[in-house]
Parts: sequence; structure tokens; C-alpha cells
Amino acid sequence: MRPDAWWAQPLLIFVGLSTFIAYSTWAAFQGQHYYSGPYLSPFYSPEFFGDSPHSWFGPKPSWWPAWMIWSPALLILWAPGGFRLTCYYYRGAYYKSFWSDPPACTVGEPRKHYRGEQSFPLIMQNVHRYFLYLAMLFLIFLSHDVWKALWFADSSGKASFGIRVGTIVLALNVIFLGGYTLGCHSFRHLVGGVLDQLSRAPARQKTYNCVSCLNRRHMLWAWMSLFWVGFSDLYIRMCSMNIWTDLRIL
Ligand code: FES
Repeated sequence: MRPDAWWAQPLLIFVGLSTFIAYSTWAAFQGQHYYSGPYLSPFYSPEFFGDSPHSWFGPKPSWWPAWMIWSPALLILWAPGGFRLTCYYYRGAYYKSFWSDPPACTVGEPRKHYRGEQSFPLIMQNVHRYFLYLAMLFLIFLSHDVWKALWFADSSGKASFGIRVGTIVLALNVIFLGGYTLGCHSFRHLVGGVLDQLSRAPARQKTYNCVSCLNRRHMLWAWMSLFWVGFSDLYIRMCSMNIWTDLRIL
């Protein structure tokens, strides 16, 4: 009975998320053009094994199955992917836009029984808080990538301090991902205390309120960080392929 265009938002979300999933899957399977100078694409960071100078443990491991496509991104992307997939905001968004269950807020659905997230498979969404721990680790790795993006080798191979557009791109990526990760509902309860009793007041009200500032705009942070992490990969890919020039600012 909703007379407004209630379907517009789920449709936009469907288009936005599908575009991101298509691009990030394509980029993750490329296995090349993911680094340029001191920059490493956030889709490939941390690079445990790989051919770039950023690799921690050397080239492709011998235990990798011969029949499987190899890309350093495949070793790590499950963690940030799982974090977003189980995010409270994204769940509400993709339940509506991908399988119309429910189609939108206060829009009726054809079936009678609501099973919620209390049974398999959706009960698995409760792993979100564990993905949060991993996501926080990724923030550290990505911040270190920004530090590395401040040092550029000259013709003699000596690294000197500088700031280029790519540095700014990677720094913004950490800011947006930080705003998204540290505004997580689970993080609010982690730092605010009372982890699993939402009806009780948080034990540490001030920190709870502090995280709530970010949490109030969680949807905005979610979309900004999603767009920017994809753009960061694209930027580094274009620089690596010599299609875009990385301008020096400082
Ligand atoms: Fe969205 Fe945790 S609720 S990241």
C-alpha cells in the first residue's frame, strides 16, 4: 500500500552492489597491474605471496593447486568480503534488493512465516564480530601502505619523501574504510561494553557515544568506502598500465 517509489532504493542498491561485485571479482582474478611504484592495490593488500616488491613471502607458493587460477588477492579478499557481506547495514540492503525478502520496509511479502536470522543459513551472519577483528587488522596493513606511498625511488634507486595523487587516493581509502569499520555496530558494543545485551545501557557510555557518531552515518561510510576501494584499485591499475599519469603534489 505504499504509494511512493519504494522500489527505487533497492534497485539502486542492486545496481551499485552488482557493479562493485563484478569489478572487484574481475580485478581480483587479474593477478597483474595491481601495483605501481610504491603503491599496492587495496584488493591485494597484504600481499602474502606474489611477484611484486610488496610480497611478504616471495612468489606464488608451490602448494597452490595447479588447476586453480592464481592471484594474490584470492588469499585475502574473503576477509573484507566477509566483513561487508555480514554487515548489519548491507544485510538489510541486499535482502531487499537481491531477493526481495522483504521487498522494502513496510511492503508486504508473499510468504506468511518470517524466519529471520535465527536458523541456518542466515544464523551464520553472527560471525560478523569476528570479521570485524580481521577488518581492523586490514586497517593497519592499509595504513602501512599509505606510509609506503610517501616514498618514491629516484633514478639512482634512492627513496625520497613525496606526495602524489596516488598517495592521497590511498590515504582517503584508509579514512573511508576507517569510518566504515570503526562505525560498525559490533565495534560499538565492543568498545562500549555489554556485548550481547542490546537492551541494557552500555558500560562505557562515552566511548559508545563516540562510535555512535560514525555509526549514525554507517550507510554513507559503507558506500563511500566501497566506491573508493574500487577506485583505488582502478587508479593503481591505470598507473601501472601507463594510461594515467600519477601527478606529483609535493
Ligand atoms: Fe556494518 Fe559492522 S555493522 S560493518
